[in-house]
Amino acid sequence: MKFGYFDDALHEYVITQPDTPLPWINYLGTQDYYAIISNTAGGYSFYQDARLRRISRYRYNNIPTDTNGRYIYIREKKTGEFWSATWQPTRTELDKYTCRHGLGYTTIQSKFLDIEAVTTYFVPKDETLEVWDLTITNHRDKSVSLSLFSFIEFNLWDAMDDATNFQRNLNIAEVEIEDQVIYHKTEYRERRNHFAFFACSEPVSGFDTQRSKFLGPYRGLDRPLVVEQGKASNSIALGWSPVGSHQVELKLAPGKSKRIIFLLGYSENRQDEKFDPPGSQNINKAKVKPVIEKYLQSKNIDQAFNELKDSWQEFLQVCQVNTPDEDTNRMVNLWNAYQCMVTFNMSRSASYFESGIGRGMGFRDSNQDVLGFVHMLPDRARERILDLASTQMEDGGAYHQYQPLTKRGNDAVGGDFNDDPLWLILSTAAYLKESGDFSILNEMVPFDNQPGTESTLYEHLQRSIEYTLNNMGPHDLPLIGRADWNDCLNLNIFSTQPGESFQTAPLKESGTAESIFIAGLFVLAAKELSQIAEQFRRFEDAQQYKFAAERMSNTVLGAGWDGEWFLRAYDAYGEPVGSQVNKEGQLFIEPQGICVMAGIGLDDGKAQKALDAVNERLATTHGIILHQPAFTSYQPRLGEISSYPPGYKENAGVFCHTNPWIMIAEAILGNGDRAFNYYKLICPSAREEISELHKCEPYVYAQMIAGKDAPNHGEAKNSWLTGTAAWNYVAITQWILGVRPTYDGLEVAPVIPKDWDGFTMERIFRGVKHVIHVVREGEGNQVELTVDDEPVEGSIIPLPDLSKEKVEVLVRLL
Ligand code: BGC
Ligand code: NOJ
Repeated sequence: MKFGYFDDALHEYVITQPDTPLPWINYLGTQDYYAIISNTAGGYSFYQDARLRRISRYRYNNIPTDTNGRYIYIREKKTGEFWSATWQPTRTELDKYTCRHGLGYTTIQSKFLDIEAVTTYFVPKDETLEVWDLTITNHRDKSVSLSLFSFIEFNLWDAMDDATNFQRNLNIAEVEIEDQVIYHKTEYRERRNHFAFFACSEPVSGFDTQRSKFLGPYRGLDRPLVVEQGKASNSIALGWSPVGSHQVELKLAPGKSKRIIFLLGYSENRQDEKFDPPGSQNINKAKVKPVIEKYLQSKNIDQAFNELKDSWQEFLQVCQVNTPDEDTNRMVNLWNAYQCMVTFNMSRSASYFESGIGRGMGFRDSNQDVLGFVHMLPDRARERILDLASTQMEDGGAYHQYQPLTKRGNDAVGGDFNDDPLWLILSTAAYLKESGDFSILNEMVPFDNQPGTESTLYEHLQRSIEYTLNNMGPHDLPLIGRADWNDCLNLNIFSTQPGESFQTAPLKESGTAESIFIAGLFVLAAKELSQIAEQFRRFEDAQQYKFAAERMSNTVLGAGWDGEWFLRAYDAYGEPVGSQVNKEGQLFIEPQGICVMAGIGLDDGKAQKALDAVNERLATTHGIILHQPAFTSYQPRLGEISSYPPGYKENAGVFCHTNPWIMIAEAILGNGDRAFNYYKLICPSAREEISELHKCEPYVYAQMIAGKDAPNHGEAKNSWLTGTAAWNYVAITQWILGVRPTYDGLEVAPVIPKDWDGFTMERIFRGVKHVIHVVREGEGNQVELTVDDEPVEGSIIPLPDLSKEKVEVLVRLL
């Protein structure tokens, strides 16, 4: 069953009923000001950091689900009947409802009693505000008098404190009203220099800022007293819970429409310019007023909206494909790229599954996000890489997370996730290949943000490699530390304390557990760094990293091989994990993917064997599960992975992030059919028909799909913020379609299904459009290249002549 459809031409997903299996959300904002919005206008907004600068309040885990957001109530004066323009929070049975999630905007349309409301929400480019652009139309043959009530609930900035520290919080709220704009200025009197504003383009007949006055005692947002009575109370919040609500009176003749704009925004003043007049407690509005004025005018809104659309066109046109598969086209051309932008911006911080409080920017997560994003905006990728490197420690280790506002490593979570530093090499390599900008390697970057410790980014990359080499275990394999890519494989923790964090609890055992996954990642990273060194003319380094990669490959082929597949790890006692000798957890997906990607076992058949084992034992109709057999009981020796019921999350769920690694590995071995079949199993668009089971949005990847050990096999959770986005984008564009940046030019080495007759791709690379036509002539993957009518040896299109506007490439697949 479906709950909507893809409008490919308009670049939108259209939801046709409001009660989707879960809220289906979208993200607004591309830099600084961000908003999460659901298909019924739920969600919240923040400036830069979802924890430290939360603008509006949202209640996770609330019932009914998803009831707080950006609401507009419509009340008919004559009858007193009222409803919401976006279904929630009144949940009135509407005569018509659609939600169109587009690129950086969401439009929700409703019709009730022949009154139509269409609201478009978006964040103008480079602004720290969001627009609610409402058009209300009277489709009756009589005129109608309506009252509108807007609604937003303010957050007291620090979302954690806001939800926990009530003995203080209920005393600090402050607002100001000036020229009918509602200003939220809690703590502005003391150390904060920022405030929020909520403005309306129409004359207002009243307002409310105290939640209790707006709602009335014991009432919810579905039945606020003020709306029911049709009269705002003009309340001024002091303490308690500040909200913003305007009342607007409207009279609409038959067939007539009215457009009304609401603005919710964020602004800052310099500390010494906070007050006007100086010495008073009033916000100095000199800076913000012109902004508000500008965006309350509809012509400026139209222009900003068009600019937003154009900028998305620009990002997306860097890579456009036309293949025989509709799902592939739609994901690559639009939704997967879009999700990559969102994961780049949010890391794993704020979604409907991530509260915005717990996790900032993950070190490994953000490095991987760069892989799927770098072609769209290389400059921002560059900045991110340098920010990440600044949280690396002197010994090469890294903080596992950092807060986006402070850009400082998160002490509470700390480091010792021994895979983290290696990902920095992969993101940097991707940036270098895409941009050719080697100057980044000479950038001076501190360790742990400490001034005076700066060294070049290149040296940071070297420290990443040294970190692994300095942390090796008894089998000459890398020590796992707290965990490797799988945060839930905690081999040195042995936690028996209820509630203790598996990731930060003290390391209890010897600390000698080793990871074959890190070994594979090391080989991949050392090979990349060797290539970087070569390009950077550090030939000795290049040799050294090449040897290091070879040595580690050999170790993996020895101590890391279980006979039929790659082992997962050695535990703290030196016992194998992910081996046929284990009762549960015999075969894990991660080392099979990463080791083959690193080129281990390609020559002696081990790679193929490992992938065959994955195919036989881990592939299901809903994707490839993480391991088998699932753990049926909690095992302190393994940690969090065994804490989940079988089939969920890392305990044998389809942990989607790992699936593209297998697709890439299959492509490396030339198995296009298998690679593409795996791609389709978890492809959101290909799962649209089973939305009732899948439950999450059909336009973006989810972190996990319940595995075959779970009763609801096929049900997805944790949509949006997952490394799955970047990796699937890489798998399909660079390995299956096979178009990948290299230092020497764009390589074209497709490994596509046998029954495809070819595809085309337009790829802007190093400023030049490459128009690539792939034509299948034989059944294999061998490539014959013609560039601008000249035959070219090998599979790499030489770096383009910058004076050219475009390069025409013909690829015959033999
Ligand atoms: C989750 C993991 C996550 C880890 C670190 C665990 O509780 O299950 O998916 O990576 O926390 O935040
Ligand atoms: C989610 C985390 O964000 C990511 O870093 C980790 O690799 C996976 N969970 C697997 O545990």
